[in-house]
Amino acid sequence: MVASMELAKEEGADLVELCIGSMSFSHISDIEQLLKHRLLPSIVSFRPSSPTNLCKCLQVLKLAIELDIEFVEIDLEVATEAVINEFMIKRSNTKIIVSGHLNGESPTTENLGNLIIDLQSTGADIIKLVVDVSYITDVAPIFHMLTHCQVPLIARAVGDRGLISQLLGPKYGAFLVWGSIGDKFVPGLPPLASIKQAYKLEYMNSDTKIFGVVSNPVGHSKGPLLHNPAFRHTGYNGIYVPLLVDDIEEFFRVYSCDDFGGFSVGIPHKEAALRFCDEVHPLAQSIGAVNTIVRRPTDGKLVGYNTDCEACITAIEDAFRGRYVASGQASHVSPIAGKLFVLVGAGGAGRAIAFGAKSRGARVVIFNRRFERAKALAKAVSGEALPYEYLEEFCPEKGMILANASAVGMEPNEDQTPVPKVSLKSYELVFDAVYTPRNTRLLQEAAEVGAVVVSGVEMFNRQALGQFKLFTGGLAPEDFMRKIILEQF
Ligand SMILES: NC(=O)c1ccc[n+]([C@@H]2O[C@H](COP(=O)([O-])OP(=O)(O)OC[C@H]3O[C@@H](n4cnc5c(N)ncnc54)[C@H](OP(=O)(O)O)[C@@H]3O)[C@@H](O)[C@H]2O)c1
Repeated sequence: MVASMELAKEEGADLVELCIGSMSFSHISDIEQLLKHRLLPSIVSFRPSSPTNLCKCLQVLKLAIELDIEFVEIDLEVATEAVINEFMIKRSNTKIIVSGHLNGESPTTENLGNLIIDLQSTGADIIKLVVDVSYITDVAPIFHMLTHCQVPLIARAVGDRGLISQLLGPKYGAFLVWGSIGDKFVPGLPPLASIKQAYKLEYMNSDTKIFGVVSNPVGHSKGPLLHNPAFRHTGYNGIYVPLLVDDIEEFFRVYSCDDFGGFSVGIPHKEAALRFCDEVHPLAQSIGAVNTIVRRPTDGKLVGYNTDCEACITAIEDAFRGRYVASGQASHVSPIAGKLFVLVGAGGAGRAIAFGAKSRGARVVIFNRRFERAKALAKAVSGEALPYEYLEEFCPEKGMILANASAVGMEPNEDQTPVPKVSLKSYELVFDAVYTPRNTRLLQEAAEVGAVVVSGVEMFNRQALGQFKLFTGGLAPEDFMRKIILEQF
């Protein structure tokens, strides 16, 4: 526990919670030494797991009060009037936190309200809610409680869908939020390092606009690493968070207030999201997928856009131009025009890329694991769909473009590739939309056979610049964002 405290201090924690109940100790004097030598202001907590444990719990908490520790935390079940009175009489500066847990029940406003009444009636200085959540939408009533509670409130939604309870807690007035330390992954807790470096929650206030990436899975998204520093760089009061969404319709229904200014849309919601926009930009409408949604400030309507299309196509064009300029063959016509453009994937990103390639006059051939989707997309862009199993041997001509817009090769499946190395020789340029990892197996092998390679990171950068402009209504700090991508992706 001392080592963890040291790490927390190093990583910039303001205070630590010392969960004494989770420690084994032979004598109370061990705890006394630990508390006396704490490195940061502390919350001393002890959840008794049995009646024998209750004595130990009270002994530890009383000791913490005697030692004038900043906070002690006691469970509602054992926070009787007699116990709280004794704590209050004995304490000099220690603040008393009483915590209540809601598990197995859905966290409705009514349930949480009743629990808060019970917690408040103990006379605690600070109250704490710990709530199991199954969906991100279960966190909304917690924000409601944070906004309206009369006493200082700490709230934690447990589980990976509860992450925003910590990341957005300060906006709604949470007394404090938790982060995990070191490499320890705790579902629902942001790493402390990310709180300090990317999110910088200390700058958040009730006016902070919320943006985020609606995706499932969402852990791979690098959006928070890019958009949060860019907001601060331009002085925009916003935060960008991962939003692990199962049911997109329900998500937009629940989080419909103006606090939520806009969203990036990722796997697998890009096509479904279009249905929940009030208006859709014509390009996104024809693509049939949105990757950006903005809540229009004037009337609160959700407007959908697609910044993937131009991001990918201009990245490919610029890579060609770079090569042609170097060899003195530059021209004003798109270098994609007339080329055979082999697209793998017909999901949201695939659709955007297919429309972009078609708009530049390429001949588009589509391979997708589910053939029906390839056929539908091919029809929409007047291209051709071929069965996925033909991809490996597809080689009608030299100098083709290959664009992978499938999830093949994405972490944690970095060892996979949609097209084996031997088949890459017919491609002049290979693009991979996958950007985690940055240098996918497909790109490595394409470079080895001499193709021009374009990374998904380049597309990511360009689509993020487009999103930033739409989110803030201002110009994106291009050089700054590119620098972050080069340094951190
Ligand atoms: N660089 C960027 O800026 C950027 C932007 C957007 C997306 N992306 C990346 O592009 C990829 C696709 O994203 P998306 O938004 O289009 O997702 P999506 O709409 O969910 O589509 C996923 C695509 O991947 C295919 N796929 C998934 N697992 C597969 C497997 N094991 N074998 C073959 N095909 C498989 C799907 O085929 P089925 O139709 O058969 O399911 C579908 O075509 C992701 O890796 C994403 O990170 C990158």
